[in-house]
Amino acid sequence: MLKLIGFLIILGLATADKCSDCLAQGKHWCVTVNACGFTPCVTTITKALNCPELPDKAHAYDDSFMRNKVLITHSAAYNMDPQKCFTSKMPSMKVSKTVNVNCDRYGPKAMCFSFTAIDTVQKVIAMTFRGTEGAAQLSEEILDFFHGKKAFFDSGSVFEYFYDAFLFQWNGGLQQDLRKLKYQYPDYEIWVTGHSMGGAIASIAASYIVKIGIFTPDKIKLVTLGQPRTGDYAFATWHDATFPYSFRIVHHRDIAAHIPPMEGQDELFHHRTEVWYNNNMTIGQPYQLCAEADGLYCSNRNLDYSGEDHVWYFGINFVEWGQAGCP
Ligand SMILES: *[C@@H]1O[C@H](CO)[C@@H](O)[C@H](O)[C@H]1NC(C)=O
Repeated sequence: MLKLIGFLIILGLATADKCSDCLAQGKHWCVTVNACGFTPCVTTITKALNCPELPDKAHAYDDSFMRNKVLITHSAAYNMDPQKCFTSKMPSMKVSKTVNVNCDRYGPKAMCFSFTAIDTVQKVIAMTFRGTEGAAQLSEEILDFFHGKKAFFDSGSVFEYFYDAFLFQWNGGLQQDLRKLKYQYPDYEIWVTGHSMGGAIASIAASYIVKIGIFTPDKIKLVTLGQPRTGDYAFATWHDATFPYSFRIVHHRDIAAHIPPMEGQDELFHHRTEVWYNNNMTIGQPYQLCAEADGLYCSNRNLDYSGEDHVWYFGINFVEWGQAGCP
């Protein structure tokens, strides 16, 4: 049995390599028969980032960890007093700093909310970004996509709107507090989390603290819910090569994971690893770990999107639950 598992792992690695070698030769990879250039092929891969690859065992996805712990951070961000959620559900976590700033340079004023927290029992720092509050900001966001992209260091580009929103919050207090926490607790890991636009900002935030050298990627757990496409193909490539622990959880038909569309010169592309729950996400429901970064075989299979699925995660409306203080 062990031998068989070992063999399958080796086979998996070999497949990823063969797939990227195949694409490098300008051919397509045929998943259906695991062969290069095979036609006709039912399921083809034409982008290297979509060559099948899953996180290693040490960074495996754990449904109950997300459901029982990480989700509390996401909910807490919908309360102006996030401590209420922690006191109710994870009392060892203490809010360190909250930031509430206008984060829209162009449009009407739009407030972005985020916080840092520290847990000396679990030995964790948390940094969480709230999503859009209400439809107005969501449509505002979509319009703002047209403001274009901004270079992210030397690693591709991300949406300017998300990047700016991050920087407003970073400079509005997050930076100072995070540096202080890192200085006090240098060995702790950090959970960087966010929902909706907050998920895109969390992805940028995790990337930023690596780029400026505050945290090494192995200390970071990035977990987003219903994250919109955040950057271009080059950014996604750097992201995947950098973070061993990065999960984009997508509930069923959640619309946000599909905007802005993957098309045009921008080549907008999701980074890994999508975890798709093609169900109501109640306890025990199955999920799919998606081996492609932004392929057609997980949530992209759906063409019928839902706004309601965007606020229901793990079987509850976690936005309203957070607003109520996580009773
Ligand atoms: C969730 O889905 C399961 C399986 O289809 C079903 O048994 C259950 O009643 C559903 N729960 C809710 C809250 O919709």
